[in-house]
This record gives sequence, structure tokens and C-alpha cells, in this order.
Amino acid sequence: MTISSAELKKLYLAFFEKKGHRVIPSASLIPENDPSVLFTTAGMHPLVPFLLGEPHPLGKRLTNVQKCVRTNDIDEVGDSWHLSFFEMLGNWSLGDYFKEEAISMSFEFLTKELKVPAERFSVTCFAGDKDAPRDEETARIWERLGVAKNRIHFLPKKDNWWGPAGQTGPCGPDTEMFYHTKDIQEKSTGEFLELSNSGPFSEVWNDVLMQYNKTADGSFEELRQKNVDTGMGVERMVAALNGADNAYECDTLAPILGRVISMSAPGTAKTNRSARIITDHIRAAVMILGDEKGVVPSNVDQGYVLRRFIRRSIRHARLIGIKGEFCSELARIAIDVMGDSYPEVRKNSQRIFEELKKEENKFLIALENGTKQLERELLLLEGSRQKVLNAKSAFDLFQSFGFPLEITAEMCKEKGFDVDVAGFDALMREHQEISRKGAEQKFKGGLADHSEATTKLHTATHLLNQALREVVDRSIHQLGSNITQERLRFDFNWDKKLTDDQIKRIEDWVNGVIKAEADVSFEIMPLDEAKRLGAQGVFEERYEQNVKVYTIAKGKTVYSREICGGPHVRNTRELGTFKIIKQEAVAAGVRRIKAIVE
Ligand code: ALA
Repeated sequence: MTISSAELKKLYLAFFEKKGHRVIPSASLIPENDPSVLFTTAGMHPLVPFLLGEPHPLGKRLTNVQKCVRTNDIDEVGDSWHLSFFEMLGNWSLGDYFKEEAISMSFEFLTKELKVPAERFSVTCFAGDKDAPRDEETARIWERLGVAKNRIHFLPKKDNWWGPAGQTGPCGPDTEMFYHTKDIQEKSTGEFLELSNSGPFSEVWNDVLMQYNKTADGSFEELRQKNVDTGMGVERMVAALNGADNAYECDTLAPILGRVISMSAPGTAKTNRSARIITDHIRAAVMILGDEKGVVPSNVDQGYVLRRFIRRSIRHARLIGIKGEFCSELARIAIDVMGDSYPEVRKNSQRIFEELKKEENKFLIALENGTKQLERELLLLEGSRQKVLNAKSAFDLFQSFGFPLEITAEMCKEKGFDVDVAGFDALMREHQEISRKGAEQKFKGGLADHSEATTKLHTATHLLNQALREVVDRSIHQLGSNITQERLRFDFNWDKKLTDDQIKRIEDWVNGVIKAEADVSFEIMPLDEAKRLGAQGVFEERYEQNVKVYTIAKGKTVYSREICGGPHVRNTRELGTFKIIKQEAVAAGVRRIKAIVE
């Protein structure tokens, strides 16, 4: 069967709608209010509060297609199946169905809708350990459905456990489906492990049987409700269904790869790892730049990852003989293949082209000079029989030539050298740069953190959002929010530094509402109604749905009304005193405020 990504997505959503699921939109690539990860890594990510037990306004069965970025296996990108940006299809049960129904639906979709014969699958189940028992029940369900016993493998936590997405949160044992595009019969679990994720044999779908919450001390507590969280990689599934042995043959990657190969010097296409890296990274960069949150290349957090994607593409382009500027041309193709599903990349195409061009121009000359410098250093090291590039040299390459550490490390590795990463990080901190892992290391909290401190800051964020409109300008709205135990961080559309007087008036407005002892309450209502009431909130227009609206009011005086998942305090008197501790510019037209309550 030949299938396109659009067709697969349509079939999937229709199938799960038929099974009583409601379709929810793809969330932004930049997680809202989750300091524990930089990007949305799975469809479950925006659903964490609901997996922990808050009622979802659309009910207990949800489905969607989510844009995702994963950087944890960025070094694998360039092989057959790993991608840093990908689309994930998912269906969720929020305390509704569990193993039996979830697995039966997965099987039905694969064999009836996609018409893949049962003998083309291997599946894995959790082998059991001190945290959860061996999952015989799941194995029995697969067997009953028609998967042969020799194709059901039990694996330990490192393979068959998913989540949490950050440091803490919902997680559980999973059962994974592997699709063989050719008829390969493994004889043992050992052989299965060798074959999986290589060549024509790939994991395509994962059903997580989500029963635990990982807490900050590393223990697993039972969730109030048993959930199912599934994820199917669109690119992998499309490629595999079409008989390909790698994800790049999917229709949202193949046209980009084709252009990369035609731009490369004759005879270099055999270095296709570089061509694949460029393809993957430029598409990821386009999706991040095109996201409504307005992330641009920088030396911290998401901006740093974006910078790495672009700069690494530029380096690999040189390796296969692509000369001069090339990013825009590939970006145009990426926008073309992604734009129907994600209209934001068309809408923001100007920003995508401008930022890529800026980054490319900055790095082109630096790359050449920096490479020469690094090669000189490596020659010296070779002479002195050393194998590790010292931290200072790596840091110089970063400061003078804009080499992200990972690029230096990759170039060293290709020549058999290591880099003193710890030393580099120490120098970075000394220079008051935020460490390269950014938020992932800085904050241990996570979206699952409903502590008193973060709850207060959630409510304070709503008040700050409104205060900006009251004091500065009616057009201001939230572009991003990130809350830790210590502080709130709020990004909004504004291009000027706030004056001391404005800062003071914003603080006064918020503290005024705190003193007024206003009640904080919520109501679930249709989106139209929320809009009519003037509720703030970033919401997609494409879906009819009910939303949760938080109102902060004293009697008839409404101070703030906002679409939000919570959590919040019950009365503003709980907040204490609100104080702005920092303001800065994040990008053109985007300002950031950090504030605390004490
Ligand atoms: N959240 C699960 C995954 O990403 C479904 O594999």
C-alpha cells in the first residue's frame, strides 16, 4: 500500500474518533509552563495535568497529531530511523480504557485500517522489576490477537518503560510495536534486539500503560487513575508502509533530502549521513522558527538547540561540497511539505528566512576559520600524544567562532579525540552563560509540580498578564510562560524596555488585586463563550471545544479571565507580595519578565 503522511494522519484520527475520542490540536513545540524540558517531546506532554487526574474539558478519550522535537538522540540522527523533529500520532485514555482495549485498538488500526498482516509485527512487553510486575497480561492480549509467541519479547525498564517526559511526572511500562518491512523472522529476543531499529525493522508505535507518577525523590507512586498514552511516529510509519528501509523516504522528508543530494558535490552523496543530518536539522529549525512562540537562535535554552541545528547543518553541508548559502532554499521546501498541516510555518515564513540567513551569514566565515584553528590544535595534540582537547580551546572556539560545544566534540570525535566537557561547562558558568543543557539542568520541577510555590506563581502570572495590558498596552498578550519553584517567567509581545515607572505601576496593580482578596475560580465553557467574555489565552481556532476558564474577581469586579489548565490558589490573599526581579529582550518584539511572590 502506498500512503502519504496526510492520509495516515487522516485515517488515524478518523479511526479514533469512531472509537469515541475527541481530536485536540497540536500544542506548540515550546512547552507551556514546563521548566523540565526544552521542547514538546511527545503528544502526552501538554496533557500531563490531565494524566495526573485533572478533568479534561473534552472528556476521557483524546487523540491528536503532535509536532515534537527530541534532542536526546541527536547523535543518532543520520541513521535510518532517528529524527530530531517528527510528528507523533497519539490516542489517550484518561482513566478510561486500559490494556485490553488500547492494545486491541492498536492492533485493529494496524491490521484492518492499514492492512498490515499480523506476521509483520514483533512486540515487546515489560519484563518486570522492583517498581512494577512482569506484564504477562499484555503478552497474552497480543497472542490472542494473533501475534506469534516467538515475536513477543520481554525487555527491562531501559527498553520497555516510558516517561516521565522531564524529571518527574506520569510514566509506566509500555508495549512497543515493531514493523518489519521485509519478512524477517527473529529466532530469539537477542536476535530481535540486533535487528530492531536497523534496516527494514523499526519501532513504529508505543502504547504506554501509564500507572505511575515519578516523584522528585525518584520513587514511583500509583496514579489516581490508570491512563493509556500512545505514540506513533508518522515519518517512520509512512516510510515503513511504503516498503522503505529508512524514515527519509517519507513525503515530508524525501523532497528536502532530494534537493540536498542534488546540491552536493558529485560522488559525495554516498556520505548520506551528512545529507540526512542536513535534511532533518533544517526541517527541525524551520519548525522551531515557525512556531508561534518566536524562538530565535541564541546561546541559551531552545535558542541554543536551534542554533546547533542550523550550524551543524552548515558544517555537514561543507562536508558534502555544498557551497555558499543553502538554508533558505531547503527551508522553502520544508515549509512547502509541512505548511498544510502546520499553517504557522507559512505565516511565519518571513522570520524563518531572515533568521536562517542571519545565522548562516554569521557562521559561514567563522566555520572556515574555526575549523582551521581546531585542526591546528589537533595536530599539536597528536604531536604530544594527547587525546583530549582542553576546555579552554573548546571555549575559545565557542567564543571566537561560535562553535557550539557539540560541533567541536563531533569534529574531534571524527579524528579520534575527546573534549573536556566538564571543563568547558565550568568556563561557561564562569562567563555567566547558562550551561548548555539549559532548562533541563536548571530546574528539577516539571509540569507535574503542583506545589504551593508554583501554584501561587501560576496565579501571579495571570495577574501580571492582565497588569501589562492595564498599565502598558491593550495589545499585549502572552507568548510564553515558564514557572519554577523560585520564580515565574513571562514572555510577551513588546519591543521597548519597560520604564521604572511602568514596572512600579505593574507591581502596584498586581499587589492591589492581592490586597483586594479576590477569589480565583474556574468554569468549563465553550470556546466561543470564553471569547465573548474576553478571556485571554492562546487557542487554536480550528477546533470546536470546551475550555477551562479561570476568573479572578471580587464581587462584580473581574480582574482577570484566562483560558488555562491550572493549578491556581483560591484567593489572591494567599500570594503575599508580587515583585518583578528582571526584564530583558528575548528576540525582536519579544520581552521577558521574571517575577516572584514573597
Ligand atoms: N509518550 C510515548 C512515547 O513517546 C507514547 O513513546
